[in-house]
Amino acid sequence: MFKQLTQAQLDPILSLSIAYREDRRADKMDLGIGVYRNSQGETPIMQAVQQAQQYLLATQTTKAYVGLAGNEVFNQSMMNLLLSGTSAHSRAAAVQTPGASGALRMLADLMCLAQPDTTVWLTNPSYVNHKPVMEAAGLTVKYYPYFDYATKQVNSDAMLAELAKAGPKDVVLLHGCCHNPTGADISFADWQAVTALANKNGFLPFVDIAYQGFGDGLEQDAAGLKYMADNIEEMIVATSCSKNFGLYRERTGAAIVISDSLQEAQKAKGRILQLARSTYTMPPDHGAAVVATILTDDDLTAVWKQELVEMHGRLLSLRAGLTKAIRAQGSDSFDFIEKHKGMFSVTGLSPEQIERLRKEFAIYAVGDGRVNIAGLQEQQIDYLANALLTVSQ
Ligand code: LMR
Repeated sequence: MFKQLTQAQLDPILSLSIAYREDRRADKMDLGIGVYRNSQGETPIMQAVQQAQQYLLATQTTKAYVGLAGNEVFNQSMMNLLLSGTSAHSRAAAVQTPGASGALRMLADLMCLAQPDTTVWLTNPSYVNHKPVMEAAGLTVKYYPYFDYATKQVNSDAMLAELAKAGPKDVVLLHGCCHNPTGADISFADWQAVTALANKNGFLPFVDIAYQGFGDGLEQDAAGLKYMADNIEEMIVATSCSKNFGLYRERTGAAIVISDSLQEAQKAKGRILQLARSTYTMPPDHGAAVVATILTDDDLTAVWKQELVEMHGRLLSLRAGLTKAIRAQGSDSFDFIEKHKGMFSVTGLSPEQIERLRKEFAIYAVGDGRVNIAGLQEQQIDYLANALLTVSQ
């Protein structure tokens, strides 16, 4: 049966990690996959997570099934993080999913169930897995103008002009904060404008928020999403604890449906549970149990928030340091790095220039020009600055 298959295409991000591991060069640098590393190049388990794990180890009495929706305390905590203080909080329902990719897929399946001829509009460019997940669910994908490669910022006028054409059969996917891959976020005024368009033309907003806390802070990073949720009847959200809780391998995420009433949101949740049953049945327990433990304990929440503030602060200083180092080597053409938000920046380097980074400097970055600033160590900054300038000349 399987002989007729052609070879799989390698994932542009995950395949980099494999190539990096096999590289024997001592000064190699992994700026590919979106993982935060500290000054020693490690991705440590956060203190709050360690404490929650110890608590769970001491108190958990069973490994019996949890249920299709996963951990309901976790689900409530995710809604609190993203929607507290909004009218949407009381008309939303959440399902724990295996990572945010699981949430993307469950929500895509839900859209397909409700309206099979849905078109999902993605930012151009967008996270490399958005298109495959939406298409695997049977949805049509289209791109809207987003990133301006000349300014390295969002082209709001072009974006809003195109989104004005979206209608009731369309879903517009927005990045809640820290746009992946570009690092260029829309402004609060853009969130207001997209909300007004959605209300006027009837498209469904779909927010993917995987980096809350890495842009301007926990509250600030949810401000656009909150405004939208407060001012719209129906929208969907995919969220992740991979980065802000450092739970990457635990696959901890949630799918949230906001509706005009709690009853409607619960109905959608019921359909997601049915979809989950025929896909993976239940999400893994551990990551969600850790997050629920942290977010229902004031002391642990305080520890977690402080660690997140420190990671964010370090990210800002890496961005400033790299920009400064490039300036010191005589160029201001990478100043945009300091203005970008979150882990990533699209550098504008071509696939050939990214290939040169790998071959000549042992620096691994994604072929679309994305560099993971959060993967950088302070002592590597000058080397990276030199490499970026060399290949871009
Ligand atoms: C990334 O964009 O590097 C991460 O979100 C990892 C992933 O799942 O692709």
